[in-house]
Amino acid sequence: MLSGKNILVGITGGIAAYKACELIRMFKRQNANVKVICTPNAFNFVTKLTLQNLSQNEVYSQEFEVLEYKPEHISLAQESDIMVIVPATANTIGKIANGICDNLLTSVVCAFTKTILLAPAMNSGMWQNKIIQKNIEKLEQNGYEIIGPEEGFLACGTNGIGRLCSLEKIFQRTVDILDSKKKLSGKKIVITAGGTIENIDPVRFISNYSSGKMGIALADTAFKFGADVVLISTVNVNRAYNVIKVKSAIDMQNAVEQEFLKADCLIMAAAVADYRAKNIYPEKMKKTSDNEISIELIKNPDILQEICKKKSSQVVVGFCAESENLVKNAEEKIIKKGCDYLIANDISRSDIGFSSDYNEVIVLNKQGGITKLERSDKYKIAEQIFEVIYGQERNIQDNREFCTSESC
Ligand code: CTP
Repeated sequence: MLSGKNILVGITGGIAAYKACELIRMFKRQNANVKVICTPNAFNFVTKLTLQNLSQNEVYSQEFEVLEYKPEHISLAQESDIMVIVPATANTIGKIANGICDNLLTSVVCAFTKTILLAPAMNSGMWQNKIIQKNIEKLEQNGYEIIGPEEGFLACGTNGIGRLCSLEKIFQRTVDILDSKKKLSGKKIVITAGGTIENIDPVRFISNYSSGKMGIALADTAFKFGADVVLISTVNVNRAYNVIKVKSAIDMQNAVEQEFLKADCLIMAAAVADYRAKNIYPEKMKKTSDNEISIELIKNPDILQEICKKKSSQVVVGFCAESENLVKNAEEKIIKKGCDYLIANDISRSDIGFSSDYNEVIVLNKQGGITKLERSDKYKIAEQIFEVIYGQERNIQDNREFCTSESC
């Protein structure tokens, strides 16, 4: 299952360190090449000799113990497919979240460009500490994967949350991450998110209720699946992939046009304002004695429709927000816009869509095929969208290759 995979296991100084020994065996049983890196305190709980025997490799811990021509924090980071830190103590989590590199393990983490999976284990009070939770949130936002902790009997003699996640789950998550990285690797995917903001004057604007959550979930998922991601967003997002912050529809169109040429796929999840103010007042508009005022609006470009005219091999996916006749309107829209797929959702429902963490959509392709994705959280929906689209694209590709070889 893990043949040819290089797994770097990081062990920090917590009582759950002894469990890392069994995890190393589980990886080795599946033919992974395992290297181990320990913080100095980890050796209070496990010995170097045990880890060397289990991993059948050198165990690393000292920062300046150079065995090769490259410093270890570079070579270990470059040669590994994934790093799994078991257990991750509150101390190491805090250091990683703040970019501190004061030992070999934290230096390797800093230089590591692939996925790092952390399995925290600590006392309940430490885990629930707001500062620790903020550090965890920061790590998640920056693309680190966190697994657990679980509730159960803790080494300090109490029951509660803080116990290391079961080794079977850590093992399975490692396998899943290594597998999922293959799904979209080598693909450049451009995704737009959020509602555009069309200024009227320096303090007022026209916008909509889009939270950007669906687009961000798609971007995070594409990144998890190994794609080279560019997120063009009106919402502030701090991620390990490339995020281009934009405001208006015109800004968004410029960014999309720039990125589209090198892209394999564009997903327009943004809610683009159809109109903008014809004149943007440079100073704040003053109240007058009139009871009514009019603001003249002009049409924004239709980014999706325009880009579809320039499309070559790219897969272009639109979204469509409808409050009635979902399927009929979506069928008309996919033809009008000229995109390959349209993800349609019903915005009249309060349990899905705008601002909600949940969605329920239909995926329509340009041949008229419909796949319904049942109500689920936006991250699950994002995974399913990629599975449906890339599943269908693979079939199209296979048919094309078959037709060429059989000269049909
Ligand atoms: N879209 C776009 N540029 C616009 C308006 C919409 O690129 N000026 C894109 C959206 O990002 C979405 C798709 O077109 O992917 C459909 O958006 P939607 O708001 O449902 O449709 P509209 O074209 O605006 O039509 P209507 O508002 O009349 O339903």
